[in-house]
Amino acid sequence: MQGEVSVSGAKNAALPSIAATLLTEQEVFLENVPHLGDVCTMLNLLMRMGTQVERPTPHSLSLRAERLTSWEAPYELVKTMRASILVLGPLVARFGRARVSLPGGCSIGSRPIDLHLIGLERMGAQIELKEGYVEAECRRLKGNTILFDISTVTGTENLMMAACLAEGRTVLENAAREPEVSDLAQLLVSMGAHIEGIGSGRIVIEGVKELKGARRRIIPDRIEAGTLMVAAGITKGDVLIRGGIPEHMQILFEKLREAGMTIQIVDQAIRARMDRRPSPVNVRTLPYPGFATDMQAQMMALASVGRGRSMIAETVFENRFMHINELMRMGAKIRVAGSTAFIQGVPRLSGAPVMATDLRASACLVLAGLAADGVTSVSRVYHLDRGYEGMEQKLSALGARIERVSD
Ligand code: UD1
Repeated sequence: MQGEVSVSGAKNAALPSIAATLLTEQEVFLENVPHLGDVCTMLNLLMRMGTQVERPTPHSLSLRAERLTSWEAPYELVKTMRASILVLGPLVARFGRARVSLPGGCSIGSRPIDLHLIGLERMGAQIELKEGYVEAECRRLKGNTILFDISTVTGTENLMMAACLAEGRTVLENAAREPEVSDLAQLLVSMGAHIEGIGSGRIVIEGVKELKGARRRIIPDRIEAGTLMVAAGITKGDVLIRGGIPEHMQILFEKLREAGMTIQIVDQAIRARMDRRPSPVNVRTLPYPGFATDMQAQMMALASVGRGRSMIAETVFENRFMHINELMRMGAKIRVAGSTAFIQGVPRLSGAPVMATDLRASACLVLAGLAADGVTSVSRVYHLDRGYEGMEQKLSALGARIERVSD
């Protein structure tokens, strides 16, 4: 694949930013918001609660949660997107009440939300689990010290948002350091929040009585950028990716270089090139700044056509190897032992009908299809649309023969 491509706004920064607009009665204006299934779900959720949503341009949103008519996130929306849980902190903090469906199981593991709930309880919320819903109440949250035993991205975001309107100081220890958490923190600061330690594992929030409107541009999607880099690698291509933030992708650059790719910053863009079969890689997923679990499946597609044996360990989520069986149907040689996959690279994959099981698995299968002989048809492509904006247009502009046959 050859050519230039631009990165869209980050899904995982857009979702918490949209939820954060519940914290103020004033207008919040967001730019560079990607057009995605998950963003639509979050907007639907807010509109049902009474938020006024306008889209003045294709990638900007004006949101105003002046008066709400409901404080509930219903099961039918939460079950399609776990990130719906992000409304919990803002609702309790500003309105003193929330009723949010429990997400339940999902295809990449049990993914509990216990840390979100324990944190809110420590801030004084009364929490009950009733009929599959979390019901939370509190007149005004009180700041406290919260130590996460596991690094959780949406957990950190939920409690950081809640703490902005709590009385006194909240300290989040072992907070998630993902760039999307920092992007949300910057939005909250521009809304009038007092937050220190942004980007570190210790975030200190001094609560204020109210927040105000703000304007903010969502950061570019490092996972989309990474997926496009792997697309260049797996097709022995040369692609210039515009709009990404290289500092957010340092470990990925290292691993792609280990695989034999040339990654350079040229004219403020990322040039990703490959001229041979990938070398083997050893990857272990970890919280940021470690290797992102959201890039694990794509990296496995690359390793599956490598020269030699790669090892990929998934430490963040249990059961995030659903793409492996599908890759094997395309001729990949992969053995799994617990949470580690051993991938014996093959010279060519062969096209096959495959089924996407989750968002990043769908990206992995599209990448594998680019490198495979013959035709690969990926079904359940709605998973891809949840998190990638116009992926098939972007790839075909780079020379891929890819077409959407039906939704
Ligand atoms: C977010 C991202 C997702 C990414 C993941 C890890 C969004 C909208 N989604 O998901 O794309 O794959 O981070 O980078 O930003 N855990 C608990 N208890 C909790 C919360 C989490 O045990 O209360 C565990 C999870 O099961 C998992 C680990 O902590 O094993 C990390 O999960 P977490 O960071 O919370 O993932 P999400 O925020 O759901």
